[in-house]
Amino acid sequence: MHSLFCLHVQLLLYQFNPDCFWVTMKGCGPYVVDEIEYKNLNAEMNQFYDKSYKDVDEVKPLTVEEGQICVVFSEELKCWCRAVIKSVMYCTDHYQTECFLVDYAKYIFVKSKDIRVALEAFMRIPYRAKKCRLFRTKPVTLRIDFCEDTAKIVPARRWDSAATRYFQNLLKATTQMKAKLCAVEGNTFDVFLYVTIKDEKVCVNDDLVSKNFARFEEAKENTGSCADYQENQTSLNAESLPMKIVNPAHAFRPVLFQEKMPTNLETGGNHELTRKKFLGPNFTESYCWPSVARGCDVVAISYQGNDPFLYIPPVLTFLQSGSCYKALPNRNGPLALIVCPGWKKAHLVFDLLKTYERCSRQLHPMLIILGQNKEEARSVKIRGCEVIVTTPYSLLRLFEHHSLLFCRLCHLVLDEIEVLFSDAIEQVFTILDCYKKAIITEEWEYSPHQIIAVGTRWNKHIPRLIKEFMNDPYIVITAMEEASIYGKVQQVVQPCMNSERTAVLLKILDFTHNNLQKVLVFTNSVKEVEMIHKVLKSNSIFSLKIHEKSECSLKYIIEQWTKKYSSGTHVVLVLTDDCMQSLRITDATCVIHFSFPSPGIFGQRLHSMSDNFCNDSSVDQQYTKARSVILLTENSNACHALGILHYLQHAEAEIPPELHDFTAKMLEAEEDKKFSRPLCAYLKMFGTCKSRTVCPDRHQINLQIDVCQNIPDKIIQTPGCVTILPLHIVNATNYFGRIVDKQKDQYTILAEEINEYFKKPSNKISVKNVEKLAFYGLCEKTLFHRVQVLEISPKEEENLFFNVKIKYIDEGRTSQVQSYQLLHLPAEFQCLPPQAVEFVVCRVKPIDNEIEWNPKVTHYIHHKIKGKLHEAKIVHTLGNTAWVDPMVRVTRLSDLKMSVNEYNIRSEILSTGLGTDNPEHIIQLQKLCGHIKFKMLMSKTSVAFLFWPLCGTLFRSFFSHLWLSSLDSHH
Ligand SMILES: *[C@@H]1O[C@H](CO)[C@@H](O)[C@H](O)[C@H]1NC(C)=O
Ligand SMILES: *[C@@H]1O[C@H](CO)[C@@H](O)[C@H](O)[C@H]1NC(C)=O
Ligand SMILES: *[C@@H]1O[C@H](CO)[C@@H](O)[C@H](O)[C@H]1NC(C)=O
Repeated sequence: MHSLFCLHVQLLLYQFNPDCFWVTMKGCGPYVVDEIEYKNLNAEMNQFYDKSYKDVDEVKPLTVEEGQICVVFSEELKCWCRAVIKSVMYCTDHYQTECFLVDYAKYIFVKSKDIRVALEAFMRIPYRAKKCRLFRTKPVTLRIDFCEDTAKIVPARRWDSAATRYFQNLLKATTQMKAKLCAVEGNTFDVFLYVTIKDEKVCVNDDLVSKNFARFEEAKENTGSCADYQENQTSLNAESLPMKIVNPAHAFRPVLFQEKMPTNLETGGNHELTRKKFLGPNFTESYCWPSVARGCDVVAISYQGNDPFLYIPPVLTFLQSGSCYKALPNRNGPLALIVCPGWKKAHLVFDLLKTYERCSRQLHPMLIILGQNKEEARSVKIRGCEVIVTTPYSLLRLFEHHSLLFCRLCHLVLDEIEVLFSDAIEQVFTILDCYKKAIITEEWEYSPHQIIAVGTRWNKHIPRLIKEFMNDPYIVITAMEEASIYGKVQQVVQPCMNSERTAVLLKILDFTHNNLQKVLVFTNSVKEVEMIHKVLKSNSIFSLKIHEKSECSLKYIIEQWTKKYSSGTHVVLVLTDDCMQSLRITDATCVIHFSFPSPGIFGQRLHSMSDNFCNDSSVDQQYTKARSVILLTENSNACHALGILHYLQHAEAEIPPELHDFTAKMLEAEEDKKFSRPLCAYLKMFGTCKSRTVCPDRHQINLQIDVCQNIPDKIIQTPGCVTILPLHIVNATNYFGRIVDKQKDQYTILAEEINEYFKKPSNKISVKNVEKLAFYGLCEKTLFHRVQVLEISPKEEENLFFNVKIKYIDEGRTSQVQSYQLLHLPAEFQCLPPQAVEFVVCRVKPIDNEIEWNPKVTHYIHHKIKGKLHEAKIVHTLGNTAWVDPMVRVTRLSDLKMSVNEYNIRSEILSTGLGTDNPEHIIQLQKLCGHIKFKMLMSKTSVAFLFWPLCGTLFRSFFSHLWLSSLDSHH
């Protein structure tokens, strides 16, 4: 029986894991021998073997075998050492012997001339190096249950690299190490290992369990040697054994326990999850969370990849365990940086952090969005903040003034990686470089450092991110099409006539390669399966077939498919898509899309090659084993074709030139479907729309909609300066308001009359039957307005009144009111057309490739301009929208009888540091108008003329100009 005792230990070997590490022990107890004795032994041995060189033959072993105990000379240690032979290899002229030095725990190679017989006298004291393993601490891994959509932490056979790395870093960071011996099995000591890091004592066994790297093994039957330790064990984290984990969310608990969080706080965290109807991590999350929570580098690409929930819970969990960060310098600087593609996403992530952080130790997260004003960046205080949410541009601006930003950084999250790479690639790599430099210069070995990149699509720059900045990352790709880009599946598009498909198929199947090929031919009809199968057979190609009506059993097909084939064999299986699921094939080398797939089916079909996806980003595509061939015919579903073509472009597949034409036509057809939609707001605001194909709105002129409304003819006829009154501020460059006539403003007169009229109580007649699109009066505070009903919500049974959505036709804003509030508006007040006009300030856009104004600018402009008269020059009109450049506030100095420009809106926006020049704005709009009119003039000239009288002068002069130039070019 061994009694329990605690020893100082010293680590011996560099390569180690929790199941095997070598130590020397100091202290007293069985197995422990005083260092002095080893010194003496060493001296005796060296004296003996050095001397005996004359009678070498006497002390030279006759044979050398694996497992033999002997004494060898170590060149490195310059002394004779006790050793065990591990292996013997014959090299050209001598034997090379690998041995293990039992007192030093070192593997060395020695020549046979340096091996001696071990005298019994030198074997009387135990080996100094003791092999240890952590008592009852077993490795775990994550198992995904596909049916239940859950992940379980289950026992594993081996320690994974993350666990080993963590264990090694922990041990390397310690200043003092102690072991509590619990059992001896063979020559292995089972210990509880205690290490001291920065004056804090940590039980390594517990720590590994609490960090989800390990589990405690339940005590087996009380087998002798364990009995003694039972009592002492209970002082350890008894609650965490046995660990039974249903999902990773719960797996995080032990960490909280260890940090001694009050229990209610701990459940508070889960409350937040429960409140949000959290049912456990779903598919992608169950892959991502454990690796993120372990501090590994992670790349995750999934359809939900833009949801920050993919990383927030595990990152927060990691951040809770303050002890991981003990080795970091004691300075200011965040532990985690979350880089989002734009301010809007950053706001969202920040809000989520605030929600879920409530239950944890105070992390003081900060949202940092900086404009170009240097003063702003300088004045940011990041003291005490442990998590920063920001954008790449803002981060670099901040870094200019806070050089220590990266000095404590452990977690770098890149949110929506594909957007970051497409909008700010230079900035992102600069950030990564800074991070890398900081890791190298700061002495950081013992602290976690991790990069997490999540997104919805693979991006061609991700391999560089992985290669240059990540360390053995987990790559989680749950979107199969994206995985096939990562896996370098060769994509081939074969345009052909529908009638030629079989011939083309035979050509593709012309097997010339000598390696085994397993081909799947996918089609969506039973008839086609039968037809193809027959053709293949008649061409003596070995083929199998399956569809929902076929007699062949699934089992038979699977058997045939998985049979061991010799290299050079070709197996072809013709099948319908619905059989795919039950076959679960993943080892096909080629997939032929005989019938054109929908984008959803496409990914599933590619999945059948997943075993052959290339897992090494440095391999050239020409060596990849998986190939997908699409037969594109005149019958291919146009809508699906466009999706697939976009994908092929994204995959950088070679697209036949005739397809470019096809794509262009398809895009045009897609755009034509939006012809009755409103004109795209981004087009109006900035001259371009970044996501034309997904944007639901129109990107071409529709003369019927875009004829000028509300803008008085007079103004359009004599364009130039007008006085405008912004009344409803949508955002920094977009307002609704009125054009005010300086001489005699008809609306002012009308408004006075209306207010006068409604002053008489008898005139305030509530409307009985509210009609959509009709005009009514409405009192707001003390003023009466003209409003139009836009929508009437369905009447509720018990309610006499109901909600209506209305628009203030002279101001442009909309609102909800109760039906009874609407007043009858006499016809004479309805003559004057609605006054509200939309204004867009030209030539300025948000900085940093953002597509929306930062609310700060909008707020600033709102307060500056609302309800004040401005002078503006109209430079373009379309529909009810007038583009103005410039728009200035003029103040009249009555004493001096002169006016001065108080401010110019564009300059005001630029001065906030959040806006930048957009010289293309109007040019783009004019191009847009020119393009469409040109088309109209060429085809239906009469239509263009028909709309002439309705449109403003600018429109018209532009028109005739274009018309003339088009005539010119035709002469
Ligand atoms: C438990 O450990 C303490 C010291 O760590 C020791 O004094 C005591 O004897 C141990 N108990 C048993 C039952 O081994
Ligand atoms: C997984 O969960 C996240 C958030 O909890 C959600 O946004 C996403 O849509 C889910 N994914 C699936 C496939 O249900
Ligand atoms: C302007 O504000 C509206 C409403 O908040 C928003 O929908 C729109 O995207 C914004 N546009 C720009 C360019 O910021």
